[in-house]
Amino acid sequence: MIHAETKISEEKLLEHFEAKIEAEEKIEPRDWMPDAYRQHLIRQISQHAHSEVIGMQPEGNWITRSPSLRSKKILLAKIQDEGGHGLYLYSAAETLGVSRDQYIQWLHEGKAKYSSVFNYPTLNWADIGAIGWLVDGAAITNQVSLQRTSYGPYSRAMVRICKEESFHQRQGYEIMWRMMEGTKEQRQMAQDAINRWWWPALMMFGPHDTDSPRTSLAMKWKIKRESNDNLREKFINKTIPQAEHIGLVVPDNKLVRNEDGTFKHGDINWDEFWAVVNGNGPCNQQRLEHHIRAHEEGAWVRETALVANLKHKK
Ligand code: 3HC
Repeated sequence: MIHAETKISEEKLLEHFEAKIEAEEKIEPRDWMPDAYRQHLIRQISQHAHSEVIGMQPEGNWITRSPSLRSKKILLAKIQDEGGHGLYLYSAAETLGVSRDQYIQWLHEGKAKYSSVFNYPTLNWADIGAIGWLVDGAAITNQVSLQRTSYGPYSRAMVRICKEESFHQRQGYEIMWRMMEGTKEQRQMAQDAINRWWWPALMMFGPHDTDSPRTSLAMKWKIKRESNDNLREKFINKTIPQAEHIGLVVPDNKLVRNEDGTFKHGDINWDEFWAVVNGNGPCNQQRLEHHIRAHEEGAWVRETALVANLKHKK
């Protein structure tokens, strides 16, 4: 197809685009990009944003039940960070030509996903430790890699988000460490929490590379810099020594420790993964209903801010 205004063929435009990718130059919102690149980013960045915001719910349940003022302040700061991460990511997603309202509508209509890990319940305070340590730990592994993604606004959002994620992971690990130094009941709570959160955290990295329909294109255009399995293995190799250091046992009876200190994990329950991804997890309905209700109850805030913004511009 010839672009009349530029008189450059699509082939030439694609050639120039791929040369920029190859040269590690960032693609910016005003640059020409293949529609498949744009659509992949619209999907991935918006789902990433949805995950950040919905991820506030399981932890939010424990703000009023934090065991100390110190732990309440830390949890409040973390949850507030997650809301800000959602903001960065929705702003990056909007540069692709889709409005935030449209993204939220796709989420509410079930046409957009968010990370399956947030569809599990938080049963006690040890779960807040497991989420910070394992879920944010997995997110860091994925997001540090995404700092090098080829799309400029996404890459810059990742750099900002990663600066806060390490605090999230450490505060979670500190909760688990303190519980493992506590009473027998507290140690049992911490072990029960890793038993329930270990596998959903591994599922955050997505299907095996051989079953990941999106990975090849994502790697070709450097949206993804490392594959699902590579990132999952990085997370496992880093996290198991942390578990062992505080006396926790990773719930994988097929785990193999390789001679080089890395690990080979047991089978992931992909039936469970797809059941939860497709809406049949323990908390899917609760999470979405909560998001819809909060969005509707917050409409007046958005409208007020819009009017104030319009008045300010006059
Ligand atoms: N939960 C829900 N859906 C998932 C999933 C998961 N854990 N893993 C994969 N999927 C979906 C994909 O979205 C895709 O479905 P779609 O085509 O309808 O969107 C399908 O399963 C096939 O998976 P692919 O591996 O082919 O898809 P991707 O190449 O997009 O890889 C991904 C999936 C690894 C999640 C990738 O999208 C990604 O890296 N996203 C950015 C990171 C992200 O979203 N993290 C979510 C957690 S954010 C977080 O934890 C916040 C922290 O602060 C607590």
